[in-house]
Amino acid sequence: MRQPLLTTVPSYQSLRNHAAQAREWQMRELFAQDPQRFERLSVEAAGLFLDYSKNRLDGRTLELLAQLARARGVERLRDAMFAGEKINLTENRAVLHTALRAPANRPFTLDGQDISADVHGVLDRIKTFSDSVRNGAWRGHTGKEITDVINIGIGGSDLGPKMVCLALRQFAHPRLSMHFVSNVDGHDMDAALSRVNPETTLFIIASKTFTTAETMMNANTARAWFLQQAPEEALAKHFVAVSTNVEAIKTFGIDPANMFPFWDWVGGRYSVWSAIGLPVALSVGFGYFGDLLAGAHAMDEHFRSAPIEQNLPMILGLVGFWNREFLDCTSVSIAPYHQDLNRFPAYLQQLDMESNGKRVTRAGDTITDYETGPVIWGDVGTNGQHAYFQLLHQGTDITPIDFIAALRPAHEFHEHHAALLANCFAQSEAFMKGKTADEVRQDLAGQPLDEIERLVPHKTFPGNRPSNTILMEYLTPATLGALIALYEHKVFVQGALWDVNSYDQWGVELGKVLAKKIEAELNGEAQPALHDSSTNGLIARAKAAI
Ligand code: F6P
Repeated sequence: MRQPLLTTVPSYQSLRNHAAQAREWQMRELFAQDPQRFERLSVEAAGLFLDYSKNRLDGRTLELLAQLARARGVERLRDAMFAGEKINLTENRAVLHTALRAPANRPFTLDGQDISADVHGVLDRIKTFSDSVRNGAWRGHTGKEITDVINIGIGGSDLGPKMVCLALRQFAHPRLSMHFVSNVDGHDMDAALSRVNPETTLFIIASKTFTTAETMMNANTARAWFLQQAPEEALAKHFVAVSTNVEAIKTFGIDPANMFPFWDWVGGRYSVWSAIGLPVALSVGFGYFGDLLAGAHAMDEHFRSAPIEQNLPMILGLVGFWNREFLDCTSVSIAPYHQDLNRFPAYLQQLDMESNGKRVTRAGDTITDYETGPVIWGDVGTNGQHAYFQLLHQGTDITPIDFIAALRPAHEFHEHHAALLANCFAQSEAFMKGKTADEVRQDLAGQPLDEIERLVPHKTFPGNRPSNTILMEYLTPATLGALIALYEHKVFVQGALWDVNSYDQWGVELGKVLAKKIEAELNGEAQPALHDSSTNGLIARAKAAI
């Protein structure tokens, strides 16, 4: 169904007028005028606390944003997603990753069928398998316990399990080292294989489609490497697969008993909750994997029931929409002040940019008069402070930042944790407050006047730069699950406002097709095709070097 164009919706137009004033606001003044600002502009759910008070907005802004969300049918689309309607219109698929983390007694219906028995059937298999590898009952073909797991997958079949395994390293099994090979670059595979012994290594081939070129090449290479050192019948003890494409797994030669299925209603970037999360269950155990799912489910329950004004994912989505749409912010920086979340920005890049990096509406109309998904990037604090924060403080672009921190550490170095949190809070304060010319002059008092005036422009910080801060007590499987689900739903809210299909990814196809052609040319299997002079020149240089 064709929605009215976003920019014609009355609340959008009111927001545009409102933004003309908001651009002039100084957050310093907003805080000075309202001592309750922090209490009013913060919200808590599913073990996460969000402070969004350091944004250029007020109560009226939120009122208008909530009106817009209602006018755009965000809640209606949310309910349609949970109800299993085929909201992924270009692939005619439901979007039901939320069913993967619901308890067994919670029915989820797809095409009139309850799918929860299928979901929990696979979870039971994940439990049995991960328990047996962890407790040593599952052994390699020479009778030795598994010590290394290599997950071969890319995109959603890599980023989620890798990010979560790293984030939950405190909970990891001491015997099992987890490795992730994603890149078709042979250096990636080489580095992993050079660290493991085939007798004690388990390979997981993870691919939703089981056709992704990089993963298939890596899987074949791993298999050939293994068979150089072990007989064919040993494969069943060392290769398992996760996919929606059961036929392709059989053709690859993996024992049907070693297949962990999932379904086409799970998007790749939303699949860590499915059997794609097998490395997580192996590393931290099925109990903690269950806690991850439960944390996400708690966020789902909040998202589907809380009114927009108190709904954490709705608010995170609306505030990001406001910054993107009305305050011209083209990117968002993710700053986890937690070393174990160091892959979280990379994970969010796929989640957000593959979902909302779209330029046509759900009805297929080209979007010409508003912006859609921002660029997502970042790194852990405090490292980012000593790299790119300079630009964030004093550059000409304004980049909103999401600070993420745990109030309590999982280590004993308490002075480190105080220093870490102090940096996190100090940065958001500095972005908001900045430093005025007069404050700089006071700092420099005592120096010659002309020297002070020469330095003032360089040392002044404009401030008024937006940020959110997300806090949790500890980083645990449950709070991590809630955090990931929070961002999934934030992406949903923004996609609904922009009226894009957040659940397809056609933009990655063209490069894949062209790569196949060029690969055949580089290998001498196809006549060089007529490319542009740049591509021809690059191919010629590579052929000369091969
Ligand atoms: O090419 C993009 C993409 O389709 C992602 O959406 C997906 O997560 C990734 O490739 C891997 O796909 P698969 O799990 O099917 O190998």
